[in-house]
Amino acid sequence: MSSKAARDHLSFSNVSFSYKGRPPSSLSIFENITVSVKEKEFVSILGPSGSGKSTFFRLATGLEQPDTGSISISQKEEKNRLGKVGYMPQQDLLLPWRTVLENGVLPMELQGVSRKEAKKQVLSHMKEFGLEGKENVYPQQLSGGMRQRVSFLRAILGGADILLLDEPFSALDSMTRFMMQEWLLLQWQKWEKTIIFITHDVEEAIFLSDRILMLTPPPIQTEFETIDVTLPRPRTEESRSSPVFMELKQRLLQKMRARIEL
Ligand SMILES: Nc1ncnc2c1ncn2[C@@H]1O[C@H](COP(=O)(O)OP(=O)(O)O)[C@@H](O)[C@H]1O
Ligand SMILES: [Mg+2]
Repeated sequence: MSSKAARDHLSFSNVSFSYKGRPPSSLSIFENITVSVKEKEFVSILGPSGSGKSTFFRLATGLEQPDTGSISISQKEEKNRLGKVGYMPQQDLLLPWRTVLENGVLPMELQGVSRKEAKKQVLSHMKEFGLEGKENVYPQQLSGGMRQRVSFLRAILGGADILLLDEPFSALDSMTRFMMQEWLLLQWQKWEKTIIFITHDVEEAIFLSDRILMLTPPPIQTEFETIDVTLPRPRTEESRSSPVFMELKQRLLQKMRARIEL
């Protein structure tokens, strides 16, 4: 489906980036990376811990700027990217002193939407986000899956067309995780967003994605290897045990193993 969408939505062009410590301790993460994600594509970034996955998002959002190279949104170089991408960081940033409803209205409040209108919008999505009856509950009273759905709703209502999700399901038990993956694909289709999804889980990357970008073990990334996921859509529970899925999983695991030096 969306893998055929033609236009570049988010592009890195010859991007190099290092964290600056006190010299000579600066830590180089990316060197001359060129990569793009198409409109309405679902792309996963798969790589071991410390390989620079979250840094990639910090660059995409504009929380960090590249040392050299450029980052474009819809083929236009864009230095101020923060409002243009929706970002769900690795640790969920729900405010513990605000209820589900009050957390949900935050992005719209920041954009100057009236509280009344913002609340109306959030309430209209409670059911499909599986949060009905939880409007006035505080985040610490929710299950892990529910917290992630509140975060996701907040990212969606921020209005951006590109959503960056940093390991949103990694803390969930496996059954909840499977169900959340299926739910996320339904939402992706419904809202027609471009999604970039970070994971270190091979099966999760295959199940969700049109394409997988593979990062190598640290320290430095010079190229992201791209793997096309040929698994047909819609993806269902059965997809997970199909021959295409198994073959891809074997291939990806082999690639990852080949890169690890013990
Ligand atoms: N703000 C920062 N300042 C300095 N170094 C950082 C910072 N954030 C991350 N790093 C380092 O950069 C490397 C890549 O980190 P990160 O992008 O978080 O990897 P991943 O998300 O793949 O686990 C790691 O060595 C990490 O310690
Ligand atoms: Mg990370």
